[in-house]
Amino acid sequence: VTGIAELPTAFAELLTPALLVDRGRLQRNIDTMAERYRSAGIALRPHIKTSKCWQVAERQLAAGAIGFTCSTSAEVRWLQDKGVTELIWAHQPVGPRKVEFVMAAAQRGGLIIALDSVEAAEPIARAAASMGVNVNYLLEVNTGQGRAGVEPHDVVDRAHAIGRLPGLHLRGVMTHEGHLGSFVSDREALERAGHAAGAVLAHTADQLRSHGFDVDVVSVGSTPGATSSPFAEGVTEARPGTYVYYDANQVGLSSATASDCALTVLARVVSTQRRGTAIIDAGIKAMSSDAIAVAGSLGLVCGATGSPLEGVRFSDGNEEHGFLTGPGVSGLTVGDMVRIIPNHACGTTNMFSSLWAVDVDQAFESWKIHARH
Ligand SMILES: Cc1ncc(COP(=O)(O)O)c(C=O)c1O
Repeated sequence: VTGIAELPTAFAELLTPALLVDRGRLQRNIDTMAERYRSAGIALRPHIKTSKCWQVAERQLAAGAIGFTCSTSAEVRWLQDKGVTELIWAHQPVGPRKVEFVMAAAQRGGLIIALDSVEAAEPIARAAASMGVNVNYLLEVNTGQGRAGVEPHDVVDRAHAIGRLPGLHLRGVMTHEGHLGSFVSDREALERAGHAAGAVLAHTADQLRSHGFDVDVVSVGSTPGATSSPFAEGVTEARPGTYVYYDANQVGLSSATASDCALTVLARVVSTQRRGTAIIDAGIKAMSSDAIAVAGSLGLVCGATGSPLEGVRFSDGNEEHGFLTGPGVSGLTVGDMVRIIPNHACGTTNMFSSLWAVDVDQAFESWKIHARH
């Protein structure tokens, strides 16, 4: 799109499937989360992987985000090119090209990497020592998710072991409390587990301090845990990502309602030849099917205004065909438009090169999506 005259003025003009972001909901989500932490004195360092979009990032920074969390080197490079300095690369940087990348990114300033092993740390330490570079890192701690991360009782020993290597400087500890995604339909238990994860992490920071380490970053991060983990005493920052858009998983976890969801995939009904099924032009190449809290569905089906359609389920998909089923599909005909709230906003973003930012009056602006695989 080069000029304003080429912008579509209504959904009907859009090529489908198209990724839409509701600007009002986006801004509300950004402001609510920023205010939650500003008032509690907790730093906010959102995960960029959800949007990979500068117009979204700019709004997060304007609302008070101190910087961003990244999962890939492409995200780190893109944000450094944009002049953002406060970055955590929250992924173990293993392999020669990633070590090279860490050196280059650390020299640009402001980068903190995540480490959980001596094996991952050694090549970085060797490169850092030979180049005279100081690499800041957080020790990643497992507080229940069981992905990467040192077990809490091993934190002090691991910090000593990595501390014997040159060129690396421990800044603190981090965790991703991803296990909160398993607390479907029990929000109180989720909140308790979230708080416990923050408390466990803060305790590891205290242990490190009592062994002489200087710890200034105690970083938790997730959208389901956004109202609990950062509020454990001693946690200094929160890294939620999905909250900018929310998604069907987060609705399933009661982190948000459907009316908070800012990201939708616009699709058209293209065939109703099979009784009881409406086929749309968005399949698994337009939607992340990653369902942590909404098994059996590829997304929440809404009408053009963004409100859920009763009795319509996105039950299956081929690559470019989506299968809508349920009693409500009898009301759908070829050409009808639906908007799907994806199960997982972050995975869906990564499937598109750009999105349409939409206002209530259906004014459109094209925003680019960066740093995709
Ligand atoms: C290390 C890390 N931090 C923060 C987040 C953000 O969590 P959420 O997507 O629940 O907002 C993630 C998400 O996967 C993550 O892996």
